[in-house]
Amino acid sequence: MELLLDTANLEQIQKYVNTLPIDGVTSNPSIIKKEGKIDFFEHLRQIRQIIGKNRTLHVQVVATDYEGMLADAQRILKEVDDQVYIKVPSNEVGFKVMKELKRQGIHITATAIYTEFQGLLAIHAGADYLAPYYNRMENLNIEASLVIQNLAAEIKRVHSDSKILAASFKNVSQVLQAINQGTQAVTIGPDVVAQAFSMPSIQKAIDDFSQDWESIYQDSYIHDLS
Ligand code: G3P
Repeated sequence: MELLLDTANLEQIQKYVNTLPIDGVTSNPSIIKKEGKIDFFEHLRQIRQIIGKNRTLHVQVVATDYEGMLADAQRILKEVDDQVYIKVPSNEVGFKVMKELKRQGIHITATAIYTEFQGLLAIHAGADYLAPYYNRMENLNIEASLVIQNLAAEIKRVHSDSKILAASFKNVSQVLQAINQGTQAVTIGPDVVAQAFSMPSIQKAIDDFSQDWESIYQDSYIHDLS
């Protein structure tokens, strides 16, 4: 299972790259907006510098027409590097763009997936990753876990190299459901990552261990013992 960060915040990326087994970073225009009016390409280069070449960086096109999306993709690859995964919305024009990017050997992440059918098309279009929007599907009463289960089964059935990169999570429970249904990767915002450690019982257990130790050895840690 791959764990990616769904943020463009440099501090958060640096923090979690230092602490957790992070496999990459994803962004989209709404995520970029949260950082204010940044120098877009310089910011992406800084993300790459933090995560290095062995983690994946996924950047979304913004144009909405065929030529524009291809031009956005070329510019991202030129300004950042040729290993970036180009995120393309999975609509009709997006699939045409994916076909051309695929022909050019460019890494593709099919995004804005709300339905199983979009996901199936992305698999058969040869997308490297496909990003179903878990929470947004649930908000529409679409059974997100079933969509992921079926897409995972299709990937297996046709021996596809595509990976599901489940996205749009609002809590850890959704992340676990997606993983249990067979997603190969998840991208999670820093708010949801923080939730993973926020359960009061976790800190209480650690505090109890400290108290029990201190009741015998006072202020000495293991490394202080003679
Ligand atoms: O990666 C896609 C994701 O950012 C969408 O998430 O939180 O806007 O539903 P959200």
